Amino acid sequence: MDANDAPAVRLAGVRLDRGTRTILSGLDLEVPRGSITAVLGPSGSGKSTLLAALTGELVPAAGTVEVLGQPVPRQQRALLALRRSIGVLLQGNGLLTDLTAAENIALPLRTHTRLPRAVIDRLVEMKLHAVGLRAAADAYPRELSGGMARRVALARAIALDPPLMIYDEPLTGLDPIASGVIINLISELNDRLGLTSIIVTHHVHETLPIADRAVVIANGRVVYSGTPGELQASGDLLVQQFLQGKPDGPIAFDSSPRAEAA
Ligand SMILES: Nc1ncnc2c1ncn2[C@@H]1O[C@H](COP(=O)(O)OP(=O)(O)OP(=O)(O)O)[C@@H](O)[C@H]1O
Ligand SMILES: [Mg+2]
Repeated sequence: MDANDAPAVRLAGVRLDRGTRTILSGLDLEVPRGSITAVLGPSGSGKSTLLAALTGELVPAAGTVEVLGQPVPRQQRALLALRRSIGVLLQGNGLLTDLTAAENIALPLRTHTRLPRAVIDRLVEMKLHAVGLRAAADAYPRELSGGMARRVALARAIALDPPLMIYDEPLTGLDPIASGVIINLISELNDRLGLTSIIVTHHVHETLPIADRAVVIANGRVVYSGTPGELQASGDLLVQQFLQGKPDGPIAFDSSPRAEAA
């Protein structure tokens, strides 16, 4: 199969450990190109750990992880090249506070390309336009609302035109209106730019409407993988407990203490 025909992400028989603990096992997952996949699951279930395996930050203890048609490389140079193809939006935005919005977005372009200044300026303007923030080019992060700052971070994540976008809790800390803006933007960018998007979130009801596929992880494994529509109808007790947010059920509330050693 040509690398361009391969799914954007493919996991086969993957086990992910942190130290001596197995966080996830038996992972078999395919993310089709062009799709939006919502990865759902309770806190501590291993959603961010799964993302870390896609970016090569965490090497699987077993199985294979392929991203954009190639196994995630171990070799540093090859790994950096792959990472350039993955746009990541992290919960904290990660904007540099002493740079303006435009300068923050220009950063990956300055670091990873040799494009002339004028071209970079034009690209930055286009990315700001893509997130509806052209007027905020010269604002510093402290001058932006939470929703605007998230949009600047989004513009920076797409600066290098990565074919694959990964969002880790993109709605955290935003009010319903700002959440709606971000979720629509994620959907719009995916369609307009022909991206593949993976959204890790516990904001089930906001995210499912734009998702083509849903994956639920709980108790160390994938408990659901399919369409969002069928998810609601799933008879799996773990899935139902998670969707309904019930404290009692097969998902133990304190199953995965974050700091076991502490
Ligand atoms: N760097 C690390 N070292 C050791 N354990 C870790 C590390 N990162 C995560 N873990 C553990 O792995 C488990 C899964 O964590 P992870 O952050 O993937 O969960 P999550 O589903 O993203 O949770 P949340 O919804 O709270 O972000 C947790 O029990 C956590 O304590
Ligand atoms: Mg997480």
